[in-house]
Amino acid sequence: MKEYIVNSLEETRQWAAEFAKTLSAPVVVALHGDLGMGKSEIARKIIQTLRGADTVVPSPTFTIVQSYDGISHFDLYRVEDESELTEIGLEHAMVNDITLIEWPEIAQSMLPKDTIHLYISEYNDGRKIVIK
Ligand SMILES: Nc1ncnc2c1ncn2[C@@H]1O[C@H](COP(=O)(O)OP(=O)(O)O)[C@@H](O)[C@H]1O
Ligand SMILES: [Mg+2]
Repeated sequence: MKEYIVNSLEETRQWAAEFAKTLSAPVVVALHGDLGMGKSEIARKIIQTLRGADTVVPSPTFTIVQSYDGISHFDLYRVEDESELTEIGLEHAMVNDITLIEWPEIAQSMLPKDTIHLYISEYNDGRKIVIK
């Protein structure tokens, strides 16, 4: 377990850029944290670090998944049943890609053992990021 404190959005982005460089496919990153904690900001910075700073990274809240040449970004908030996960290509992504998952709880039983779990919470005016 490792713990990081980031005091601003800019520091969160810098942290995510450093973290991105440690990732190589296949790997699953589960982003835990309440609404507004910065899951999408971290995912966006990871994608932009690895695929180019100009990469447009919309939130996948409505599309559920967005793909960037070997990086898959999921937001499972709107998924109601585990059976939908196969349909949307989660298992396929997890064995091939750098797979970033917001609201990963519904997929818990499918996540590989070596999934990197990030827990993001409020800490003073910033955020605490715990890696497990
Ligand atoms: N230290 C910080 N790290 C991340 N986001 C921050 C921080 N401070 C403020 N914010 C704000 O919190 C919001 C996080 O939004 P978002 O990444 O969409 O959250 P989530 O995907 O977890 O719901 C953004 O509006 C961002 O500007
Ligand atoms: Mg989000």
